[in-house]
Amino acid sequence: MSNEKAVVAEKPMFVLTVAGLGFFLLSFVGMGLGPWLGLELGMEPPEEFVNPYEDEAGEINAIGRGRKVYIREACWHCHSQFVRPVANEEFRYGPVSQAWEYMYDVPNTFGTRRIGPDLAREAGRRSDDWHFAHLWNPRSTVPASIMPKYKWLFTESADGIEPTQDAQDLVAYLQYLGINFKQDVRRQVWPERVVVSGAPVTTPEAGRRGEELFNKYCTGCHGESGNGQGMASPFLKPSAADLTTRYLPREEVFRILFMGSEGSSMPSFSELTEKDLWAISQHVHYIGRDVRAEALKPAANAQLVARGREVYDRSCKSCHGEDGLVPEIMEKALKPAPKHFRDRVYQPAYVRKVIDEGRPGTTMASFAHLPSEDKDALVAYLASLFDADKYKEKP
Ligand code: HEC
Ligand code: HEC
Ligand code: HEC
Repeated sequence: MSNEKAVVAEKPMFVLTVAGLGFFLLSFVGMGLGPWLGLELGMEPPEEFVNPYEDEAGEINAIGRGRKVYIREACWHCHSQFVRPVANEEFRYGPVSQAWEYMYDVPNTFGTRRIGPDLAREAGRRSDDWHFAHLWNPRSTVPASIMPKYKWLFTESADGIEPTQDAQDLVAYLQYLGINFKQDVRRQVWPERVVVSGAPVTTPEAGRRGEELFNKYCTGCHGESGNGQGMASPFLKPSAADLTTRYLPREEVFRILFMGSEGSSMPSFSELTEKDLWAISQHVHYIGRDVRAEALKPAANAQLVARGREVYDRSCKSCHGEDGLVPEIMEKALKPAPKHFRDRVYQPAYVRKVIDEGRPGTTMASFAHLPSEDKDALVAYLASLFDADKYKEKP
């Protein structure tokens, strides 16, 4: 290299010009062009995306009215609607927000702070009845919640508590938020990723911890004793399970806690640690501890069981499956899914009640028309399906 060129390259003016231009270009690309391109690319809405707040005639619909209620009630003071591409937010809330989602949001409801969780992916995460109970009193579904009550969105009369049109619209709006990503969100809330190998040994500490957590998360719906008569019960259909009427092995409780029960307000608690889930499972198992002995005691007479099987194959098998093993297709088609009878056993009186009344709010219909002996036979047969060897009574 000639001496002359080296001298030019070391001139302060030259260094300043190159560095200045270089940094200008860098920031232009990084802070202008990049985000703009990102926005342009993310701006392309799916073809079927139309203004969600209007019906075909251009009139405001329930979702649009609900949005107005959301703005009027200042829900955005505590809730954001924007899943950011940072801090692993997509694992907590679901897919990162796209620009096109906000095309029709004037004014936007991004919010500025999160006292409560982001709501951009709320669609389908909770059932309608969960939302009504929660708006009426957040403590009913989430005992530790600090969200205010919105009682003026309900009318209370002798007939019970009814959501107003505003409340129904608001819930329609919440069930819309992120509806285009609903499938992805489901995958995150109900992942099929846990293989439960077996419950750990029970300990008094886990029992205490389990009771504590039960009081923190579950009593609003299930009631303190677990009988399903919590504060939220006027809203819930199907009603919260009466846990005193069934013996559920801890593995089964764990599965339900992890998955939730889609089609009902029973949420997934998959965000809790595995240790805590086992602790709660121990407590729930303890609530139903006497049922097992009661259900399995009367050395079931073989004739009755055989008759029960006949009735079952005729009336129940289509949903509950051969020998109580629910076929996958039914598990997927019916929400909530039918119960499988190998991993649980019910109080005889409760089975009679379900046969007579069904489970309102589910596809489990009443079979009150069956002859009384058939009902007795069904009770005996269902108890005989329980896999007592797999779930040996542990001391
Ligand atoms: C003072 C702050 C505050 C206000 C105002 C508020 N929330 Fe909340 N919200 C919370 C907190 C905290 C939680 C988390 C605890 C819980 O689930 O109750 C929450 C939870 C929620 C959830 C549950 C999200 C989930 O799936 O876990 C929904 C839905 C919700 N709020 C909707 C609303 C709506 C609709 C309004 C307005 C009518 C509103 N919130 C107003 C604080 C607030
Ligand atoms: C928002 C209300 C709500 C909350 C909170 C709730 N549950 Fe539930 N739970 C339900 C409803 C409703 C059902 C009935 C679901 C069905 O029939 O499919 C249910 C069902 C269950 C079942 C299944 C019973 C069976 O026989 O399959 C178990 C176990 C259970 N809940 C335990 C819990 C525990 C433990 C907690 C707290 C960690 C909890 N639930 C919190 C509403 C709730
Ligand atoms: C159309 C499908 C269908 C048929 C047929 C059916 N069930 Fe069910 N069954 C269900 C579903 C779905 C559930 C879950 C309800 C729930 O989540 O609480 C259920 C739940 C139950 C439960 C448990 C309720 C609880 O609280 O956990 C019992 C007991 C039961 N069924 C018995 C029967 C018997 C006995 C028959 C036949 C006489 C029968 N079922 C026929 C769909 C069906």
